[in-house]
Amino acid sequence: MKQYLFFVVWIIIFNPIARTQTDLPNDYLSKDFHKGRREAFRALMPENSVAAVFSYSEKVFSNDVNYFYHPNPDLYYLTGYKEPKAVLLIFKELQSSISQNYNELFFVRKRDAIKETWEGRRLGVEGVKENLGFTHVYEGKEFYDFSVDFSKFDVIIHDEFPVDVSDDETGYDVFGLMESFRIKANIDYNRDKIKLQNLLKSLKRSLSVDNLAYFMSYCKKLSMVNAEVRSDPIIKRVINNPDASEMNKIKADIKIKPKGIDYFKDITRTLREVKKEEELVLLRKAVKLSCVAHNEVIKSATPEMSENKAHGIHLYVHKHYGAEDEGYAPIVGAGANGCILHYDANIRQKLNNDLLLMDVGAEYHGYTADVTRTFPATGKFSPEQKAIYEIVYEAQEEVFKICREGTPFSALNTVASAVIAKGLLKLGIIKDEMEVRTYYPHGCSHYLGLDVHDKGMYGPLKTNSVITVEPGIYIPANSACDKKWWNIGVRIEDDILILKDGYENLSEMSPRKWSEIEKLAGKKSKFNELGLPEIK
Ligand code: GLY
Ligand code: MN
Ligand code: MN
Repeated sequence: MKQYLFFVVWIIIFNPIARTQTDLPNDYLSKDFHKGRREAFRALMPENSVAAVFSYSEKVFSNDVNYFYHPNPDLYYLTGYKEPKAVLLIFKELQSSISQNYNELFFVRKRDAIKETWEGRRLGVEGVKENLGFTHVYEGKEFYDFSVDFSKFDVIIHDEFPVDVSDDETGYDVFGLMESFRIKANIDYNRDKIKLQNLLKSLKRSLSVDNLAYFMSYCKKLSMVNAEVRSDPIIKRVINNPDASEMNKIKADIKIKPKGIDYFKDITRTLREVKKEEELVLLRKAVKLSCVAHNEVIKSATPEMSENKAHGIHLYVHKHYGAEDEGYAPIVGAGANGCILHYDANIRQKLNNDLLLMDVGAEYHGYTADVTRTFPATGKFSPEQKAIYEIVYEAQEEVFKICREGTPFSALNTVASAVIAKGLLKLGIIKDEMEVRTYYPHGCSHYLGLDVHDKGMYGPLKTNSVITVEPGIYIPANSACDKKWWNIGVRIEDDILILKDGYENLSEMSPRKWSEIEKLAGKKSKFNELGLPEIK
């Protein structure tokens, strides 16, 4: 016991864990990159405003084990900090106190000798100053008492507060930091009021003769359980069977103040949509190494292979190239499973003669790929599989033709949908173009970056934004068409860098043409020769 106490005291006094690790990758984003992003953020803030950006909460995986921690991409983008329990304040104007001038303050997780021995290194205040280039850094517990007069700002910018934030009751985990912020900044965080505000917002946006009945019944339902909603004068008018002219008046009377949350969303969407050169280096690497993984699975697959093993080959290749994680749960589904859009169980034992749909993307230093390849486990497409595949391929080709600066985002899906509808009509799978959503129920594109569904404005395409182009056709069993089409699911997804007059396909390393896929499938992979022992 004495020895144990000695050990603990020794650890606390000397904290033998070095703050920073040596022999790390040397291609992380630079501190100048993050500083530049904070400056760009500040430039978009309105006069006399302050912004608060919080870390994500840790999440329980099992009992006393947490999920691998994933930083809040917005905080990472602005700071490079990857730990939990932090809040960044960015001020539009330079602030002066008795002792210092500052335009940003960063409150971070403190160092802790025992915790670091068990859980890993922490940068702490000094590490954040040295490694991330901040000057005004404090421990989280100093946040509550730090003298910032939030009442003097015209706008306080912040994201929505998530509901699933764990509370370690110290007052300075992210739960405590958010509470402190709401008290200090006098932010009314009554969940009922937030519900009401969202309701009013959606009323203002889309109140029409067509959806009035739906809104009325929704408002009535919410009024029954929610006093804030019940007593709101606008809601009372909505519930009172308004006619068309009264409805227009109601709509005009709904006043939605510009809120800090809207500013936060607009600024982060504007900035993150357009990638800087340093980000593109990481994104290219994430996409390329994901393509290598797709190719290795295509080469090594046989009808005897399991979905899980195919999934495992992806992960092995990702780690081989130093990717920390995947940007989303890998989707590796054969046949019927390939018709489940976000299937992630990946447990079917044999691929048999089916198509294997693999939607898998590595995350490299925060940036994620999002690549889908679909191929026959036998190495040869059946006529039905090929017919469906060709439609999806053609949809992709047609969308690529309009990938350039200025194309309205919505045009991408319009083009994809039209090609798929025409193709399905020709095969007799649908009888009317309107039925296309039955077999192509998702959109064609989203932005890609720190989030798989990255932030962006969804307006005209901008140079140096990265989007996916991912048409698909999914025909589950019992669909209303000839059963020879059943259980065919095809998606082809590529990651596209938008340029002024065209695009660059970042995922071209993995073939898309059916004939090239068959050629690749005919090759052998090292993964065919692993020879791991059987376990009985
Ligand atoms: N992997 C998710 C998606 O394609 O959007
Ligand atoms: Mn996608
Ligand atoms: Mn995907």
